[in-house]
Amino acid sequence: MSSSTAQPTVTLPGDVRMPLLGFGTWQAHGESAHRAVTVAIEAGYRMIDTATAYGNEDLVGRAIADSGVPREDIFITTKLPAERVGREQRTIDESRQMLGVDQLDLWLIHWPPSRGGLVDTWHRMIEIRDAGQTRAIGVSNYSLAQIDELIAATGEAPAVNQIKWGPRLWDTAEVQGHHERGVVLEGYSPFKTTRLGDPVLNRIAETHRVSPAQVVVRWHIQHGIVCIPKSVTPARIRSNADVFGFELSDEEIAAIDAMGQ
Ligand SMILES: NC(=O)c1ccc[n+]([C@@H]2O[C@H](COP(=O)([O-])OP(=O)(O)OC[C@H]3O[C@@H](n4cnc5c(N)ncnc54)[C@H](OP(=O)(O)O)[C@@H]3O)[C@@H](O)[C@H]2O)c1
Repeated sequence: MSSSTAQPTVTLPGDVRMPLLGFGTWQAHGESAHRAVTVAIEAGYRMIDTATAYGNEDLVGRAIADSGVPREDIFITTKLPAERVGREQRTIDESRQMLGVDQLDLWLIHWPPSRGGLVDTWHRMIEIRDAGQTRAIGVSNYSLAQIDELIAATGEAPAVNQIKWGPRLWDTAEVQGHHERGVVLEGYSPFKTTRLGDPVLNRIAETHRVSPAQVVVRWHIQHGIVCIPKSVTPARIRSNADVFGFELSDEEIAAIDAMGQ
């Protein structure tokens, strides 16, 4: 995989194309964050996930700028901390400045704010999106009931819900619930939630001559679920993205889904 054109995407409202494979940056700090994002972009990742709370937006932004890849070819997600509710504008201004961009691609609220704040924040995020400071808005760590609250109050569903996901968390009702509401499911912690030594994953990995981690990433993508593996190890960064040269069969996908039941 060498260019963004090779990557499958999902379309968010406003015809915003979001790559199904992204690069996670939580717990990547200092020069190792810059190096990891640099290697990731070289390896072909075209979506980077960061957050105000990760404290690395400046390093992520610098690595993107240094890469020489045109801004419009890299999809940038960052997140508003729940405790910054009421300070949305100042927070996105800081994020855009640190990332070195005028406009984000996706801005998420990191966790549901305490009662009452849920709808108010969503209203302000809609205003900020309408003002052009981010192309899309969404949520993270929200339940379907909380998403329904936002839809009931504003008529607008989040474009994305970023939640903890992996084979052992597979839940057909959850997937269906997001689909019915037109919300893209983005999974986080694909490896931390997975026992990579699992015999089912290893059997499938051997069949395709890939690693269990690659099987996990590929499984997300074939389900149309966004996957954002994190690593600061160059060989892992590259292999986690090398998932476009094999295809899981329906039986293999079903066997992995069954790990969640
Ligand atoms: N919205 C939220 O609340 C939330 C919460 C958590 C995470 N996230 C996002 O999701 C991203 C991914 O989640 P995560 O960082 O929690 O966990 P993850 O991607 O599931 O796992 C990262 C860990 O797995 C290791 N690893 C990476 N590739 C591997 C491989 N091929 N084989 C074995 N081990 C491997 C990494 O080690 P090395 O780095 O040492 O290689 C690191 O320790 C985050 O970075 C962040 O962007 C969002």
